[in-house]
Parts: sequence; C-alpha cells; structure tokens
Amino acid sequence: PTFSSSSSSSSSALCFHINGIDGRARAATIHFPNNGPPVTTPRFMPVGTKGTLKGVLPDEIASMECPIILANTYHLAIQPGTELIDQVFGGLHNFMGGIRRDTDNNDNDNNDNNDNNKRLYNLLTDSGGFQMVSLAALSNVTEKGVVFQSPYSKEHMLLRPEDSIRCQNEIGADVIMQLDDVISSVATNEDRFRIATFRTLRWYDRCVQAHQYPHRQNLFPIVQGHLDTSRGGLRELCLAGFKHRDQHHRRIPGFAIGGLAGGESKDDFWKVVDHACRHLPDDRPRYLMGVGYPLDLVVCTALGVDMYDCVYPTRTARFGVALVDEGQIKLKQHQFAAKNPSSADMTINNNNSNNNNINSNTPIDKDCPCEACRRGVSKERLHSLLKANNPIGVQLVTQHNVTYMMQLVTRMRKSILERSFQQFVQEFLRRYFADDQ
Ligand code: GUN
Ligand code: ZN
Repeated sequence: PTFSSSSSSSSSALCFHINGIDGRARAATIHFPNNGPPVTTPRFMPVGTKGTLKGVLPDEIASMECPIILANTYHLAIQPGTELIDQVFGGLHNFMGGIRRDTDNNDNDNNDNNDNNKRLYNLLTDSGGFQMVSLAALSNVTEKGVVFQSPYSKEHMLLRPEDSIRCQNEIGADVIMQLDDVISSVATNEDRFRIATFRTLRWYDRCVQAHQYPHRQNLFPIVQGHLDTSRGGLRELCLAGFKHRDQHHRRIPGFAIGGLAGGESKDDFWKVVDHACRHLPDDRPRYLMGVGYPLDLVVCTALGVDMYDCVYPTRTARFGVALVDEGQIKLKQHQFAAKNPSSADMTINNNNSNNNNINSNTPIDKDCPCEACRRGVSKERLHSLLKANNPIGVQLVTQHNVTYMMQLVTRMRKSILERSFQQFVQEFLRRYFADDQ
C-alpha cells in the first residue's frame, strides 16, 4: 500500500490534514502508515499504561470510537520488558492482540504491510522520564540521563535518551516521545528550570540520533520552560530551539507541550498553552501532555491544542465517579442507593438533603452510547455493583467515561467544522457551571 506524506520530507511517519478552523480551534485528521484507524482531532487519548485500558478489551476500545491510546515506556520496560515485546511479538500492537512475531520472517517490520493485521487503534508512548520522576521513590537527573531506583530489584538504574528511544523502538508505537527533563511546575529553583529547558533540547538531539525508524514512528519533541512566557524567556527559547531544528535539520512531525498540569494556577496554565499555540507551526499537530479535565479540553482546544492525554477519566472511574457535562456523578454516594419507598431510610434521606429529585433509577446519561447507558443500566444498579466491589461496576464506569471523552472531542470537532465552536463553548460552560447540580 502507498502512503503519501503531507510533507516534502520523507522523515514524517504521519499525515496531518486540517479539515476546518474556527477562531483558533482546529479540526484535523492524522493518518499513520500502519493500518490503524485515522485519528480525528481534537483528540483525547486515554492512558493504557501497558497498551490496553484496565478492564476494557481491545475491541471494546475500538468500539468506543477511540482511535489512539497512550502507553508508558517505564511500565512496559519493567514488565514484561521491551526486548521481549519486540523479539517475541514484533511490537506492542501485536503483543496486545496476542499475535506472535512470524518467526519465518524475522524482519517483518512489525507486520506493517499485512492486511490481515488491521489495527484496532494507534499507540503513543511516553518516554519514561516523567513517570520516573513522578513514580520512582528515588530519582535524580544528570546530563547523562535519569537515575532511578528500580521498584523491583532496588538497583540504581540509568535511563538515557538513547535507552528511552531503544525501548520505544522496541515497543513500536506510532508516536514516541523524547526523553525530557521534567520538573514540578511549582518548584522554585530558577536555575534548575533553565538547565532543564536547554537539557531537553540537547536530549532531543540525542533522541533523534538514536531513533531507528523515523519512517514509521513519529518522534515528538516536548516544549519545556517552566511558566516563563516572557520575551526571550525559557518557553520562547525552547520553542525557537525546536523550530531551528525543524527548519535546518530534520522535519518535526508534531510538537508536545510539557511541564504543565503539575499544580500551577489556571492563569499560568492558560498563559503557557496560549503562548505555545501562538508560536508553534500551524501545519503540525500540537499535543498537550497530561491534561484531561473536560473543562481544560474545551478551553485549550479554543487556544489551538489538537491532542491530549490524562489518567483522569479512567482513574476517576475506578473510584466510582462518572463524567457528564455538568461535572461528576459520584456513584458510590448514598443518594444513588436503591430506595424502598416505605422504608425509614427514605425518610432520613429526604429530610437531610434536597435529593428528592435525584432519579437513581435512570442511566448516567440516557443519550450516551456506552455499554451501560445504551443498555439502560441505572445509577442505582451501578451503585450496588461498585459497593459490592464487583469488577463489572468499574468496567462499565470506565467505558462510560472513555465514551464521554470521545463524545466530547467529537462534539467539539463537529462544532469547529460547522463554525459554531463559540456557541459550543458557551453552552458547555453554562451547563458545567450551572448551580442546580
Ligand atoms: N506527562 C505530563 N507532562 C509531561 C511532561 O512534561 N513530559 C513528559 N515526558 N510526560 C508528561
Ligand atoms: Zn454512558
């Protein structure tokens, strides 16, 4: 099969087409040369740390109209190991499907051109540094790389940019991320932020050097630079560094915005996202890392972001919390318990709250196409499954939340294409901030 790149250079392994623009918001389509589904934008990517979402089967991911998920190099390197994923399966795409590498044809390029091997969804891997700094008990960053203590062997290990890329080449995701020097955005050491910004540029160069498959895996740089959007400041210097590399060395297939969603104020957060979107090239995808609250997606899409990822929808589902336009439904709360109209319990419940109008006997959202809502599974049924620790409860809420996020980005896309995004934002904000919820 032929694959046409939108760029003049052959080093991009994706094709980015803008389908419509409304204000600064964009609706685009990304094609990967891999037999996977096209990725429309705006796009939210749920986090499936080891290549699949907890409690959701691969074909269920596809049936939620979820065309791309994020996996973590860090977790896959620890278990089962990226070399095994490569050697035994020929990459994570096959590993998830339980398809072993064709041993008669060892250089089968991760089965790229095998039409029997239509991929249910595309993959992006994060580089590992961020997970190490945020998850590993002991970690320390030097120019060489990130030193961390293995949670299993307790040994001190070093992850260099070259190691991260080798692992990500072995995993074989369609988008891979550079190793970056991430620091909490609420840290205070000015010098450390300056070092991290320039180190991130140097590490990008080492990642480019180490990357073996630029024609089939897209390596994204990550813009760092703390909250400094001043003229000649760190964010500007970082952007300028990448733009120089894009124009004079190797075409960059897409750009990530990092170092945010780490406890900074919303004002600082919007300011940095706005700044990055104004400076990044218009003809490349923009990926805002670690962002996934519905409200943030709506605002950042208005600023020009195309892609997002976050554990929020899946993690919050594991706490029994369902997402709707009005905010959250905490299904474990007593108000969602099935009520016996003649019991004393009902009287107590009615006396101490204004929950009389909460109808726990209806689905989370009657218009939602997820498994639970479509089958009419009520909130009181979900409440009792969650209370009983029945895994199907969390699975159904996970599917609802992922479906909600997919519907949210699809609704944004539709309104951008219809040039009514402003009305969408107003209506979204009105419902989100309505008092009666
Ligand atoms: N996930 C959320 N933020 C970041 C970031 O700044 N860098 C990386 N690598 N991953 C992230
Ligand atoms: Zn639903």
